[in-house]
Amino acid sequence: MAIKDCDLVDLPKMADERGALSFIEGARHIPFDIKRVYYLYHVLDKATRGSHGHKKLEQLIVPVSGSFEITLDDGRNKRTFILDRPSVGLYVCPMIWRDIKNFSHDAVCLVLASEYYSEDDYYRNYEEFIRAVNANDNTIC
Ligand code: TYD
Repeated sequence: MAIKDCDLVDLPKMADERGALSFIEGARHIPFDIKRVYYLYHVLDKATRGSHGHKKLEQLIVPVSGSFEITLDDGRNKRTFILDRPSVGLYVCPMIWRDIKNFSHDAVCLVLASEYYSEDDYYRNYEEFIRAVNANDNTIC
């Protein structure tokens, strides 16, 4: 799994004179069934969230309010996305380190996840993450 497997996802948007509505159906608009939803809010100006990788977890990250910046890192390449539209999410595959920062005051970062919360699925140390990326590459070769 690499950065090329992650991308922006255009979500359905139903807009009329009353406003707009977007929706996300598991295994339809995203390539996984949704087991968990969580959201970040009241994030302080200078705070960086994320700063971890996941072994198996797949996620869709949606800026339901405000904006923020996400940098994805697969251990070889990095790519930064500005998320600022509630109808566009970012799909993040397993084995990606992510840093989320530059939250606007009104930002709400909604995350749809393919698995229940499990601390065992995390890489919270960057060097450990890089070791795992290299070990996986050696297995594939
Ligand atoms: P953390 O992973 O540090 O948040 P972020 O990735 O946004 O920087 O999570 C903060 C705390 O919340 C940590 O103690 C783990 C806990 N947590 C849960 O209990 N369940 C969850 O689904 C998530 C995402 C976190």
